[in-house]
Order: sequence, then C-alpha cells, then structure tokens
Amino acid sequence: MSKKLPRLLTISCLLVLVPVLASAMGSKPKETDFEAANARIQPLAKVKLAPPAAATSSEPGSRTGEELYKAVCGACHETGVAGAPKTGDKAAWAPRIGAGLATLTKTSITGKGAMPPKGGSDATDEELARSIVFMANKSGANFKAP
Ligand code: HEC
Repeated sequence: MSKKLPRLLTISCLLVLVPVLASAMGSKPKETDFEAANARIQPLAKVKLAPPAAATSSEPGSRTGEELYKAVCGACHETGVAGAPKTGDKAAWAPRIGAGLATLTKTSITGKGAMPPKGGSDATDEELARSIVFMANKSGANFKAP
C-alpha cells in the first residue's frame, strides 16, 4: 500500500499533465487567436487618406475668406485671368465696390462673363461674401466680413 501510493500519484499526475502539455504544444492556433493578435498590433490611430487640401481643406461653410480665396478665387483674381478684376487693382474694383457687397455676392453666386457660378466652387453664400470682402478690402474697399 505505502509503495503503491506514490506510483499511483505519479500516474495520475501524468494522466493530467500529458494531455495538457500535448495540446499546448501541438494545438494549431485558432482563427480567433489571429484576430485577437491583429487587434493587439493595430496602430492606435489609423492614417486616413483624404483628398488633397485646396478647396476641401476645411468643411464647406467654415472657410474664411482668405482660405477660399487661396483655394479657388485666387486662380483667376490673383493675376486677372480672363478679365477678372485683379486683387489689389483699385481701378478695376472701384466701380464694383461701389455696387456694394450684397450685389457683388449675388453676382458671384450666379457668375458673370468668364466667371462661373461661385467661381466654380462649392462655397456657401456666406463663404463667397467672405472671400469677396477679402479681395475687395485689398483693393480699396472697407467691407465687413459676415
Ligand atoms: C475661372 C476664373 C474665376 C474664378 C475661379 C473666380 N472668378 Fe470672380 N471673376 C472672374 C471674371 C472673369 C470676372 C469678371 C466678370 C465680368 O466683369 O465680366 C470676375 C468677377 C468677380 C467679381 C465682380 C463681379 C462684378 O459684379 O463685376 C466678384 C465679386 C468675384 N469675381 C468674386 C469671386 C469669388 C469670391 C471667387 C471665388 C469663390 C471668384 N470670383 C472666382 C473670374 C473668376
């Protein structure tokens, strides 16, 4: 009896340990293991690809006059392309400034001559007015931005 007990213990230990070890060493990783591992190695912040800056650098509606001007209006008004009144050209702007901001905003919404509606942008009316103020104030006006 006293000799059999240790042997019995050894055997029962092996009976428990062997399957456990075998499964730990030989078991294939489960798919959920990969998912969990993938989740662990994910970067904290993922890079989000976005369209190039320019007109979409800010949400439509929130752009300042200068932002919209630099992204859109300046393409023509900076150099005076196609007869656009050049920014800073007081003579070209004087009669337009005289018409008032409200009228200029209306004209910009519909477009005029070679200028497409809203200058081809997705600007809101308020953003348009802001960029007109930006341009006109560099050309002799003293408009207040909305
Ligand atoms: C594709 C070129 C082009 C772009 C882009 C453009 N414009 Fe113009 N803009 C013109 C031209 C050309 C005129 C002159 C139209 C005329 O008098 O026949 C003009 C005229 C204007 C005028 C004077 C309108 C008037 O009553 O005489 C305002 C104000 C104006 N643009 C604002 C803007 C604003 C604001 C933007 C940007 C959102 C913009 N433009 C973008 C070409 C452009």
